[in-house]
Amino acid sequence: MGGSHQLTPVFTRETIHSRVVALANQISTDYQNQQLVLIGVLKGAFVFLSDLARSLSIGAQIDFVSLSSYGSQTVSCGDVTMDKDIKLDIRGKHVLVVEDIVDTGITLSYLMALLKSRQPASVDVCALIDKHERRQCDVQVRYAGFTTQDGFLVGYGLDYNEQYRELPQICHLELESNCC
Ligand code: PRP
Repeated sequence: MGGSHQLTPVFTRETIHSRVVALANQISTDYQNQQLVLIGVLKGAFVFLSDLARSLSIGAQIDFVSLSSYGSQTVSCGDVTMDKDIKLDIRGKHVLVVEDIVDTGITLSYLMALLKSRQPASVDVCALIDKHERRQCDVQVRYAGFTTQDGFLVGYGLDYNEQYRELPQICHLELESNCC
């Protein structure tokens, strides 16, 4: 691979925990007495969704999607492939898409359009990290844990080449090149 990685903590596990509990409290209030369906976007959202769901004081159904987007400058909003669909019927239910990070917005833009076509009562987004710098598609994040501008983040579900998802904190990753 020709380089090592420098990890700098950005959000500690305590900071993340506080934000997740605050988000869960807000969501529990907003969706009280409603049929809530949490839809996690694999793989990155698996840690966040699991902590968020366990902090709710209301019931929720849970399902997952897996999507592939290629994230290049030339990819347009909606140019995404679905690898795994949900199994739940969401018609008439209140859907909350749970993402670890929203970056270009390409993934979410596609998913929101798809879910809306299935006639849920509502569809909104809860993202742990709302990252604006490369946004290409206009997507509304109703609940955001953190807003950041720059840097490549790993940990708490976020990966670099499938590494670091297991870290309990979120770190900034810098590649240190061994090359001259
Ligand atoms: C990440 C993240 C979002 C998507 C956001 O997934 O989990 O789903 O990218 O990027 P976008 O706003 O530019 O579309 P990734 O494709 O890295 O897959 P992973 O969750 O399996 O790591």
